[in-house]
Amino acid sequence: MIKRIFLALVLLAVVVAVAFTVYAWHSELPAMAASDRPDFDAATIEQGRVLAAAGYCATCHTAEGGEPYAGNYPVVSDFGTIYASNITPDPDTGIGTWSPEAFRRAMHEGVDRQGRHLFPAFPYDHFTKLSDQDVDALYAYLMSEVTPVNEPTRESTLPFPLDLRFLQAGWKLLFVDFGRYQPDPERDDAWNRGAYLAEGISHCGACHTPRNALGAEDNGRRYQGAVIDTWTAPALTSRNPSAMRWTAANLTRYLKTGADAYHGIAAGPMGPVVHAGIAELPDRDLQALGVYFASVAGDGDSGPLPDPDSSPVQASVAAGKPDPAWRLDDGERLYATACAACHYNDSADNLKATRPELGINSATRLDDPANLIHVILDGVPTGEGSHGVVMPAFRSALDDQQIAAIAAYLRASRTDLPAWPDLPARVGELRAHAGTH
Ligand code: HEC
Ligand code: HEC
Ligand code: HEC
Repeated sequence: MIKRIFLALVLLAVVVAVAFTVYAWHSELPAMAASDRPDFDAATIEQGRVLAAAGYCATCHTAEGGEPYAGNYPVVSDFGTIYASNITPDPDTGIGTWSPEAFRRAMHEGVDRQGRHLFPAFPYDHFTKLSDQDVDALYAYLMSEVTPVNEPTRESTLPFPLDLRFLQAGWKLLFVDFGRYQPDPERDDAWNRGAYLAEGISHCGACHTPRNALGAEDNGRRYQGAVIDTWTAPALTSRNPSAMRWTAANLTRYLKTGADAYHGIAAGPMGPVVHAGIAELPDRDLQALGVYFASVAGDGDSGPLPDPDSSPVQASVAAGKPDPAWRLDDGERLYATACAACHYNDSADNLKATRPELGINSATRLDDPANLIHVILDGVPTGEGSHGVVMPAFRSALDDQQIAAIAAYLRASRTDLPAWPDLPARVGELRAHAGTH
């Protein structure tokens, strides 16, 4: 009896191993010479350029100070560093010998031309949603507009056995829902267009959705907020910390300009998402993203903005006025001298100005103070937040204790949320981290 069970188990193991190997195995696709590539028309190339921006391809595929798309940008994961590939049309070190089919297979299935599995640091789990036509447009753009650069891509620092590419087949089997975007017939065209862009090319969930222990996005907690490079990408669901709900119009403005008066600005990792990315999309696509995320936030309202003089804002502005009983401690004194000249928070007019109202800004309301501390340490350069507007950096002007005091003061005076623990230590940590970039 025991023998028979044992035999059955061995057989089962063999079947699973064979099935897995067949699933994991992909053939090499033939190399294609540049001269055999199809001709691309100008409209397709332009479509590809906009999609490449909206998918931040250059942000990940360009190393600091390196040539565009020549790769070697380090994508740091909990398991090790994976270097983005050279995706210029160089035939030796880039994708110059890739046919449109090979490129499509990489984008849709995460398998390279030679048949090797790609690591999910490359967000193929989102790009699999893209239509063939959009993938072909990206191919047309990369092959015709990007200058070939001969630069070999560095090996990942993943430890054995995680560096074995065929094992990625198991990860795919467990976590990736392959296939093109399926429109939801219950929803209108704008919603479906927004969902297509968000889940596919712009992969908003890559930062805003928490990941499981194996690094896959947890779709049961989609858009519920996550930590990315020591910043918090806030929840975009009804758990969003803002004092005022995001409407479609607010979202569209934030995604187009990098700022919304009723909420925050796009600093840190969100800066390039807007300014090197989705801001290139035509207005109707940005509106579609607004419609989709307003529904994710639980609010389909795309009507006019709330009146700045209406009560929630006024209440927050009133809350921003220091309570006379508030002890004039370090935090308040430092705020008055370092910040209040710009963030004076004394009237609803502030909402019409370019300075965010800190009483309703997510940076003061998140469970983690990281975003607030980052912004105080390093300011907001012109490339982030609103265009042509800066906030100075206080890295050298203020020490850890002083920044902690300002953060504690803002939390206590602007919100009714619990105080942040261990602030000075957290400032020290983030100061050291950001300094390494
Ligand atoms: C979050 C960072 C990130 C973004 C955004 C990103 N990539 Fe990548 N990509 C990578 C990494 C990392 C690899 C290498 C994966 C590996 O070695 O397994 C890669 C690999 C690839 C490959 C395979 C190349 C080869 O030689 O095997 C292609 C093709 C590719 N990316 C195209 C794109 C395009 C097109 C876009 C934009 C639509 C894009 N990527 C956006 C990180 C990114
Ligand atoms: C590379 C990581 C990353 C990607 C990709 C990303 N975000 Fe963000 N997002 C962030 C971070 C970090 C913040 C916080 C920025 C700050 O506080 O200044 C943020 C902030 C936001 C906010 C403001 C939330 C608030 O309440 O203050 C919205 C809205 C938003 N993102 C929407 C999106 C959408 C829509 C997409 C896809 C088109 C997207 N994000 C893609 C990292 C990312
Ligand atoms: C010289 C004017 C100026 C000073 C001084 C200043 N800020 Fe700002 N701050 C700004 C502007 C302008 C923005 C919006 C930047 C943008 O939209 O690009 C901003 C943005 C912010 C944000 C929003 C960040 C986000 O991600 O949404 C916070 C928080 C903030 N400031 C806090 C402070 C604190 C705390 C101080 C004092 C230590 C301070 N600021 C000093 C001008 C200033």
